[in-house]
Amino acid sequence: MEILRCNGIEKIFGKGENQVTALNGINLSVEKGDFVAITGASGSGKSTLLHILGSVDKPTKGTVTIDGVDISGLNATDSAIFRRRKVGLVYQFYNLIPTLTAEKNILMPMLLDRRTPNAKYFKAIVKTLGLEDKLECLPSQLSGGQQQRVAIARSLIYRPAILFADEPTGNLDQKNSKEIIDLLKLSNRNLKQTILLITHDEKIALEADRIVTIEDGKIVSDQTEKRR
Ligand SMILES: Nc1ncnc2c1ncn2[C@@H]1O[C@H](COP(=O)(O)OP(=O)(O)O)[C@@H](O)[C@H]1O
Ligand SMILES: [Mg+2]
Repeated sequence: MEILRCNGIEKIFGKGENQVTALNGINLSVEKGDFVAITGASGSGKSTLLHILGSVDKPTKGTVTIDGVDISGLNATDSAIFRRRKVGLVYQFYNLIPTLTAEKNILMPMLLDRRTPNAKYFKAIVKTLGLEDKLECLPSQLSGGQQQRVAIARSLIYRPAILFADEPTGNLDQKNSKEIIDLLKLSNRNLKQTILLITHDEKIALEADRIVTIEDGKIVSDQTEKRR
């Protein structure tokens, strides 16, 4: 089942002489349960693409459909709700709320909607991410790797149609990076979470089932594991 499709995505920043074409005709389809890495040099357009797919930004041209919804057509309010409930976003920086415990941070997207999480699923996420002993801790009491695990748990709480992670290990040492990538893999396998991981690190990209490479805002290669 197709969970994400984008057609003819273009993104132009600025005007006149300062104009930058960040994306130049991106077509991409992701199946449910896939673990895809998007890779490319710095400045190739990876983050711009992720912002558009995650409905944080709008394309200049083209359409994005996630889980059957054309997000290009949503207004600002619907787009914010869609982002909270249907997509998970994880960045290099964890953006946790410093005054709230790990548990409250994980539950935050649901608390904002005055919803109660499914207790069984909450437990499964916490267990998958190895956070059982850390739920009462404040972010300042956690290591960088542990804070990123909390951020990933928060991004998963709504069982998003797709999890987007933009250089999630960019701020971590090698050991913690490996741990985070392994946990993403585990979420993909155990929770059947569809994941789109952005990284400039080819070694990390190799952990995915499929590698899409971008150069100058265009897809230049798209390989699934069997063919590598
Ligand atoms: N808000 C912006 N305004 C102007 N140019 C931008 C903006 N965001 C990104 N760009 C430009 O678009 C291109 C792609 O950037 P980006 O998507 O951040 O690349 P990557 O994440 O692969 O490093 C770069 O040339 C960058 O300078
Ligand atoms: Mg980037």
